[in-house]
Amino acid sequence: MPYLTGMNRTLDGRVALVTGAASGIGAATAELLSQQGATTYRADLAVSGSADRASWQTAPDTELQLDVREETDWDRATATVLEREGRLDILVHCAGIAAASPLADTSLAEWRRVMATNLDGAFLATRHGIRAMGAAGGAIVLVGSVSGIQPSAGAAAYSTSKAGVGMLARAAAKECRELGLPVRVNAVSPGGVKTPLWEAMPFFRDLVEKHGSSRAAFEAMEAHGGDRFAEPEQVARAILFLVSDAADHVTGVELPVDDGYTV
Ligand code: NAI
Repeated sequence: MPYLTGMNRTLDGRVALVTGAASGIGAATAELLSQQGATTYRADLAVSGSADRASWQTAPDTELQLDVREETDWDRATATVLEREGRLDILVHCAGIAAASPLADTSLAEWRRVMATNLDGAFLATRHGIRAMGAAGGAIVLVGSVSGIQPSAGAAAYSTSKAGVGMLARAAAKECRELGLPVRVNAVSPGGVKTPLWEAMPFFRDLVEKHGSSRAAFEAMEAHGGDRFAEPEQVARAILFLVSDAADHVTGVELPVDDGYTV
């Protein structure tokens, strides 16, 4: 983490909850918040099966099973954190799924599947984050996507769900401000990031087969489209900024982390 070497730990004493923490952006964010001194709870569907789990072994008590679509899971996860730590300062909601299908071929069931994880999940994260932080306040970051800013062809459900995430962050920020609640809510919206998310899409699996590895498949996409993919850590650093005191006057923004793709 060369950018942060030698800096003071910015999150000492803070308590954080990261969803989607078993993989990709969530795993990188949980690792970075932890390095910065936060007691970091890592939540995901099935924490113990995770490929990135090796780095979790030091603090298994802070792993939480959480399906972001289920209100009862949120009740349990936030109650666990509050019982153990007495506070929640930071919530980073990374859990999400990719989906691609032409609009005319997208079934209602598929539409609802995408909305349930990407939009209902973000709603429940925001609702339970605000409630758990309460009058003490805190910072929430929802992970959206550039697809919610500029729609991706062939991914209407995904793009619409992510546009909703950006609006949700702004709506929540405005409401907290008007209620005098010191909870900041922002969104980070990445462009393409090198994570296992892409493996859900058949065209990417074909590229992996053709080029021999995920990394080579990302390189082929960069060479073809001209847009550079981010490493998960590059997105995690933007999230760190928004949850830290360096951003204590920043709320209601959707920050693209996209190498200028949406300019
Ligand atoms: P990833 O697939 O590496 O990680 C997503 C994690 O979310 C997985 O560990 C998965 O188990 C978890 N998850 C999925 N459904 C869940 C549920 N119902 N409850 C709890 N956890 C659940 O993907 P990545 O790339 O790290 O994605 C993180 C976020 O970033 C997602 O919201 C995604 O839409 C967004 N994003 C990713 C981009 C990319 O190119 N990878 C680009 C733009 C946005």
